[in-house]
Amino acid sequence: MKLINHYLLLLPLIILSSCNAKKETTAISLKDSYKKDFYIGTALDANQIEEKNAKEDSLIKKEFNAITAENIMKSMFVHPAKDKYDFALSDKFVAYGEKNKMFIHGHTLIWHSQLAPWMTEIKDSTEMKAFMKDHITTIVSKYKGRIDSWDVVNEALNEDGTLRKSVFFNTLGEQYLVDAFKFAAAADPKVDLYYNDYNNEEPSKREGNINLIKKIKAGGGKIDGVGIQAHWRLESPSIETIEESILAYSALGLKVAFTELDITVLPNPWDLKGADVNQNFEGSAKMNPYPEKLPDSVQVKLAERYASIFKLFVKHKDKISRVTFWGVHDGQSWLNDWPIRGRTNYPLLFDKDLKPKKAYQSVMKLKETKE
Ligand code: XIL
Repeated sequence: MKLINHYLLLLPLIILSSCNAKKETTAISLKDSYKKDFYIGTALDANQIEEKNAKEDSLIKKEFNAITAENIMKSMFVHPAKDKYDFALSDKFVAYGEKNKMFIHGHTLIWHSQLAPWMTEIKDSTEMKAFMKDHITTIVSKYKGRIDSWDVVNEALNEDGTLRKSVFFNTLGEQYLVDAFKFAAAADPKVDLYYNDYNNEEPSKREGNINLIKKIKAGGGKIDGVGIQAHWRLESPSIETIEESILAYSALGLKVAFTELDITVLPNPWDLKGADVNQNFEGSAKMNPYPEKLPDSVQVKLAERYASIFKLFVKHKDKISRVTFWGVHDGQSWLNDWPIRGRTNYPLLFDKDLKPKKAYQSVMKLKETKE
């Protein structure tokens, strides 16, 4: 009798602890927590593609189910000379994704930055069109059926929504946009084709982006999605602005992907917004306030910011195909060197020692409390 009483007293505790155990096993990783919503991706640098660091490699495999190459598929690396392609690393990148059953995103075919020098010298429209056709057709056909989506054109817009006077625009006019999407669709009719940019959640650039999408469609190009890079700040853009953009792009029948998510916690020179890789500024102690450690108060702000962003993403999961972080951990982030070299930034969910941060817990918790 006494024994039974004891057991009855303990029963609620036993049930509670088994529930907790279940919670822990169900929400084990980002990709599993969000698997019904959208892909959770990361950008891989060359060392990660080559699996050089075993600890990083197991973290990548555990947490992410989509990959983008941070640099190695950009034209300066993959097409260094007119008659020379170098696919050594991109072959490894695609094989890595296949081996781990990940969604593989190609970044990027037509972009004015990180261009091979020989490309910037093309002045003639016939030559430029021939280059674009060869470049896009060669790369997209090579990975036909293996790469799941492509950034066909990256960053063609100015902040006011007008078209950037890039080497492509200067030689071919706006028709280059339509042609790029046509060449890509011809090379792999089934692959998803994206236009990708930064700040294209901001109203004026968003308007320009919507016009650009309409032009591509009107010209007979196939476009399946828009990539919002999402190089964001603690205070901006507002959740409302992001939501308006999700709704506006998806109203055009496009998938929305957040393709390069990170959140800077450092001061911005002249309140710079965006991600123009050609902008660089002088460093100073004032601009690098947390060289050793991120203060708890900022850690909490970052966690709250990530939570509100992911809450919005989950609300619109039917419109969002993928959310990709621009890097695996803080130590790897490009924001340590841009727009000022040699700073210590903390923009991702894992710290430089690969430990999950408060921001990771807050993104995970969002799913646990709901289910
Ligand atoms: C960045 C990389 O992260 C850096 O390593 C490189 O030095 C510059 O480019 N928008 C893009 C990305 O589309 O390709 C850029 O990546 C960041 C901004």
